[in-house]
Amino acid sequence: MTATPAAGPDICLTGLSKHYGPFKALDNVHLTVAPGEFLTLLGPSGSGKSTLLMALAGFVEPTRGDITVGGRSVVALAPEKRDFGVVFQGYALFPHMSVADNVGYPLKIRRLPKPEIAARVKEALALVQLDHLAKRNPKQLSGGQQQRVALARALVFSPEILLLDEPMGALDKKLRGDLQMELRQLHRKLGRTFVNVTHDQEEAMAMSDRIAIMRAGRIEQVGAPRDLYDMPETRFVADFLGKSNFLEGRVRQADAEIAVVETADGMIRHAQRGLVLRAGDDALLALRPQKIGLGGDGADNELPAVVETAIFLGTHAEITARTGSGLVLGINLAIDRAEALPDEGTGVTLTFGAASTTAVRDD
Ligand SMILES: Nc1ncnc2c1ncn2[C@@H]1O[C@H](COP(=O)(O)OP(=O)(O)OP(=O)(O)O)[C@@H](O)[C@H]1O
Ligand SMILES: [Mg+2]
Repeated sequence: MTATPAAGPDICLTGLSKHYGPFKALDNVHLTVAPGEFLTLLGPSGSGKSTLLMALAGFVEPTRGDITVGGRSVVALAPEKRDFGVVFQGYALFPHMSVADNVGYPLKIRRLPKPEIAARVKEALALVQLDHLAKRNPKQLSGGQQQRVALARALVFSPEILLLDEPMGALDKKLRGDLQMELRQLHRKLGRTFVNVTHDQEEAMAMSDRIAIMRAGRIEQVGAPRDLYDMPETRFVADFLGKSNFLEGRVRQADAEIAVVETADGMIRHAQRGLVLRAGDDALLALRPQKIGLGGDGADNELPAVVETAIFLGTHAEITARTGSGLVLGINLAIDRAEALPDEGTGVTLTFGAASTTAVRDD
């Protein structure tokens, strides 16, 4: 499949806020979405993802701030004038209409001629591989098929921007996986802008060009999945996208390359990148479970610990170990068939490189 070159307008949110009384569902959000981008809003329940998408779509009026599309403000425009394709969680199909009529509805209200509607509906249903079910009623479809009809209905008028609020929220894991891949391929094929909402981090990582991590009405960090994972700026992001251990301490000495952090378990050598640590700073270091090894020579850092649990999971093993100070660290170990797992209660040496830790802000 050849990707269509990205075209269309960019979306710009500046200082966007939505207050409900004293409560800030959105709190001064700044975000730009590039033409053709697949951007996902990811965050815990209540962090403002749907509110942000609803404000974009025009169903929620912002208290402050502006939304521009291709440089023109849309905040005064009614939802139907914004011409976004939308798939929302509670945005159900019409039960008494056939699949084809559901998909054709946005064209009918735009008063397109019937033959053109029929042709476009056929095309949209083919895109989501449902052309053979055009005559059915929604209740004769599976959950996944209904989601695909909703997607076809959002695509049928060729919107330049598609807004998706947990379009796969109600589906089981297997079906979600299939539909995720379909949606990604569809995005590639159409070259349109997709703004997607999820609280499933794997889905976000698998689908997105960039992810915006939301927390309490704000955007905590935006970036490509890999960059967010490798370079989280805060404890929240390090913990929300993948798992992380955290080591706290005080910087004893630091130059441009290495900071030495004194923790309750001794000195830790940390290679400087991202947030720069200076002597005297309080430091919080994030350390991914798969960056820790057991034993081995010549590691930058060694922490004596006692194994608390060791579980074999096929592709890898998950171990927890308690350090001298009482800190419990999670370790993911790629494990060879011949290799035995350490017994619970065994003393081990946890090893990791200075480049394996990331300094994050604690907030
Ligand atoms: N009409 C409203 N009046 C008062 N508070 C509201 C209203 N709509 C949303 N909120 C609050 O705003 C916050 C953000 O809600 P929102 O629906 O955007 O969260 P979300 O990130 O989409 O969560 P979820 O993952 O559960 O869907 C929540 O605390 C919610 O209770
Ligand atoms: Mg929501």
